[in-house]
Formats: sequence, structure tokens, C-alpha cells
Amino acid sequence: MKRILVTGSSGLLGSKTVNEAGSKYEVYPTHATLALFPNSLKMNVTDESEVRHVISLIKPDVVVHTAAETNVDKCEDNKAYASRVNVEGSKHLAKICNQLGTRIIFISTDYVFDGEKGLYVETDSTNPINHYGVTKLFGEQCITKLCSDFAILRTSVLYGLHPKKQNFVRWVISNLKKESQLAIVEDHYNSPTLAKNLAKTILEIIDKDIKGLYHVTGGERISRYEFALKIAETFDFDTALIRPVKMSKLKMWIAKRPKDSSLRVDKIRREIDTKLLGVSQGLKEVRQEWEMKT
Ligand SMILES: NC(=O)c1ccc[n+]([C@@H]2O[C@H](COP(=O)([O-])OP(=O)(O)OC[C@H]3O[C@@H](n4cnc5c(N)ncnc54)[C@H](OP(=O)(O)O)[C@@H]3O)[C@@H](O)[C@H]2O)c1
Repeated sequence: MKRILVTGSSGLLGSKTVNEAGSKYEVYPTHATLALFPNSLKMNVTDESEVRHVISLIKPDVVVHTAAETNVDKCEDNKAYASRVNVEGSKHLAKICNQLGTRIIFISTDYVFDGEKGLYVETDSTNPINHYGVTKLFGEQCITKLCSDFAILRTSVLYGLHPKKQNFVRWVISNLKKESQLAIVEDHYNSPTLAKNLAKTILEIIDKDIKGLYHVTGGERISRYEFALKIAETFDFDTALIRPVKMSKLKMWIAKRPKDSSLRVDKIRREIDTKLLGVSQGLKEVRQEWEMKT
């Protein structure tokens, strides 16, 4: 049975990865501040000796590195902190995994691109326009430079249900439930990804020992506005509560966002059997899960 250690297991993707792995693998969840699983081990990735201690103790076959500071505006506001978590943290893991012969799967982002082109493939040039994107790109470079056995998976707008944390889908649902009006950007495109679907794909990538750089998303290009409308339709809320706005009119963002950071997924599709779920199918799954929980 493969031993898998998951960083950031209290996060959206980390928790789905632990849950999807079930009993088919020996799974070791780790966290920095929030232990979502009873057997979760504390491992702050910024603390090199703690990372060394935990990885040496568990001796996993694979580390799935989902942990990151993912708040794009917080990264812009506190660049040193973001670099410590997303770059230094990834460097510690890369170094230790390589020394111990452990495979690493690093989760990266569509924000490594500037968003001027859209539908990016793996060979397109990167050019991040905010500090979060810069730190994730440097994180990728730590992995490629220091590790001999790795996969880097770039994903985009993760969504799904999490017991404690907010994400775009949850935020839209909770506002529409209160009948609040929402202004959503119509000129900001990406490729929403059901976290549970990505978790399944990660496990297949582990099983098939797939290596290298891949884009893994729901395989669709959609604006935030259209995505919000689909959420409203799926959950039977009034779509009239949602109105489109231009990115330039939105004053609440600190960091710049790429206009179109959608990703093509042809490369990974050729390698896996897991079906990448587009927005309609993915949201249907979220609704089913929501109904079971409420
Ligand atoms: N969310 C998106 O839309 C999106 C899009 C593209 C790519 N990604 C990438 O996908 C990955 C997963 O994203 P997500 O949305 O699932 O993340 P998330 O829900 O924000 O969770 C991130 C996790 O990272 C952990 N973490 C933060 N600082 C840490 C540290 N110093 N040491 C150890 N753990 C630390 C947090 O743990 P504690 O709670 O224990 O502090 C948290 O559970 C990230 O690498 C992200 O960059 C996300």
C-alpha cells in the first residue's frame, strides 16, 4: 500500500485528497494551524527542521504538496510572508523529499501566466502579474531544480464544500440565499476545477507514476460572471440578483488579476481515465453533497 503524506490537509484540495484516498492508501494528513483530521500531524512548511522530522518519521512514498498561502490579496500585502510559505516552504519539501527519494506532487496555479492570451498550454511562457503568481512560479522552480521525481499540476479556481473555509461557490450560495445583490466580473476568465475531481486525478497520477508538468482543471474556459450564473441556476436561486461588472470598476482587489488565465488540459487528458468535470457537472456534484449535508 502506498504511503501518501498530504500538506495543507485542512485546506479545500488537501482535505478532498485525504478523503478520496480513503483506505486504498496509507494517508498522512499534515497541517499548520487547523487539524481537520484526528490523525493530522503538525508540519509548518516554513520550519525546515519540522518538515525534516515529519517526513523522516513517516517515510512517505509520495508527498502531495497542496499547502500554500492562497489569499492573493494577502500575498500582495505581505510579500515576505507569502514568499516564506510558498517559496521557502516548497524549497524545504523539495530538498528533503529529494534526499529521501520521496516523490513530490506540487500543486501550482494558472496565475503563473499574465492572462493576456488565455487557453494556456504547458509550454507557454510564464509571466506572473501578482506576488502570489510569482511565489507559485518560484515554488515550481524549487521543485524542478531540486527534485528528480516530481509532477507539477497547475490548476485554477478550486471549488467544493469545506466544513470551515469559504470559496467562491460557497460565497455566491450564501449571498444568494440571503437574496443579496452580487456584482461579478465579466471580463475575468479562468477554468474552474472541482476540488474532489482534482483529488481523484492526483491519485491516478500517483498510481500511474505520471511525471512532469501538467495543467489539470475542469477543462472549460468561463468568466466569473457566467460561473456565478451557473451556480445560481444549479442551486435554484434568482439569477437576476447577479449583475456583471468590469474588472476595472472593482475597487476591492489589492492584487492585479490575469484577465484570462484559462488552461488547456489536452496533455493530462491523454494520460488519465478520470473524467475532468466541467462546471455544470461539477456544480451538480456540489449540490448533491450540499443536500446530503443539510
Ligand atoms: N483555491 C484556488 O482557487 C486555487 C487555484 C489555483 C491553484 N491553487 C493551488 O492549489 C493548492 C490548494 O489550494 P486550496 O484552495 O485547497 O488551499 P486552501 O484551502 O487555502 O488551504 C491551504 C492550506 O495551506 C495550509 N498552509 C498555509 N500556510 C502553511 C504553512 N506555513 N505550513 C503548512 N501548511 C500551510 C493551510 O493550513 P492551516 O489551515 O493548517 O493553516 C491550509 O489548509 C494551493 O497550492 C494553491 O496555490 C488554488
